[in-house]
Amino acid sequence: MDNLKIKVGSIVFKNPILLASGTCGFGREMAKFYDVNILGGIVTKSITLKPREGNPTPRIWECYAGILNSIGLENPGLEKFIEEEMPYLERLDTHVIISIAGEREQEYYHIAKELGDYNFSVLELNLSCPNVDSGGMLFGIDIDMVKVITKKVVEIINKPVWIKLTPQAPNILDIVRVVKDAGGEAVVAFNTFLGLAIDTKKRSPVFKRVFAGYSGPAIKPLVLKHIWEIYELNLLPIVGCGGIVNFSDVLEYLFSGASLVEIGSANFRDPWIGSKLVKEAEDYFKNEKIQNVIGIAHHFNREVD
Ligand SMILES: Cc1cc2nc3c(=O)[nH]c(=O)nc-3n(C[C@H](O)[C@H](O)[C@H](O)COP(=O)(O)O)c2cc1C
Repeated sequence: MDNLKIKVGSIVFKNPILLASGTCGFGREMAKFYDVNILGGIVTKSITLKPREGNPTPRIWECYAGILNSIGLENPGLEKFIEEEMPYLERLDTHVIISIAGEREQEYYHIAKELGDYNFSVLELNLSCPNVDSGGMLFGIDIDMVKVITKKVVEIINKPVWIKLTPQAPNILDIVRVVKDAGGEAVVAFNTFLGLAIDTKKRSPVFKRVFAGYSGPAIKPLVLKHIWEIYELNLLPIVGCGGIVNFSDVLEYLFSGASLVEIGSANFRDPWIGSKLVKEAEDYFKNEKIQNVIGIAHHFNREVD
């Protein structure tokens, strides 16, 4: 459907509904529920150079309006990913965004080099995982690190590079500026917020690492506030992520300034959510082009007089 097409950087997406990293495996897991090719795209679980077992259990804790997770980037590592997941991903008829993470900056460069020749659309740099001892979010709150890693990866790989931001950074707008200067094509806002849960029976933190990543409906208003501000900078397209559970949430993101959205934790509660949102988007945009509504809520002042 042409009305739903949306260009972000150098890529045209068939619709704005993407599945977020870490919540849809490597696509195949979701294909058991519906044809993932109807989506605008899927973002893989973050891949690291070497396999990672992840953090000790418990890794998930349900809260009233979201979940805390401390997965710790469990993944098969680059080699196995290329061998076992890439052939399937390369055949998909939707945009595949490969998310990568690292404890050291060199890991990002190494992975980017290895992936360069494969058929996928975007490389998403996870500079925002809060559940690891080094790298991840610690890179994402360090403006110089964001600049250096983005610039080098952009030089290495001949594909669009998106930067997944952490809401923990104190200077988010400055980070967006350096992503733009370093050649990033879009920012993904956001990864999870750092949170804490206490097991009252044990009188101790639920998670061994004490803090964990908070996601789900509770974070949506917090993320939207930043989407609004990043949009006003008018520098880079925004991929919005955080707390989306229904189509009205998607519209809030688009109207605030996101060009695309990524659906995260909602996939766990309803694995069909992605397909339902695509259908609702098709119905909603039957008579209107989606690109005309992106950031439309910013005009509210001007319409007063
Ligand atoms: C269990 C779980 C695993 C996740 N793993 C990753 C990951 O590997 N890489 C990444 O960039 N984000 C990861 N995330 C963050 C999500 O992609 C998303 O940014 C975050 O959950 C906010 O969106 P939501 O509120 O819709 O869940 C993970 C989130 C959850 C809940």
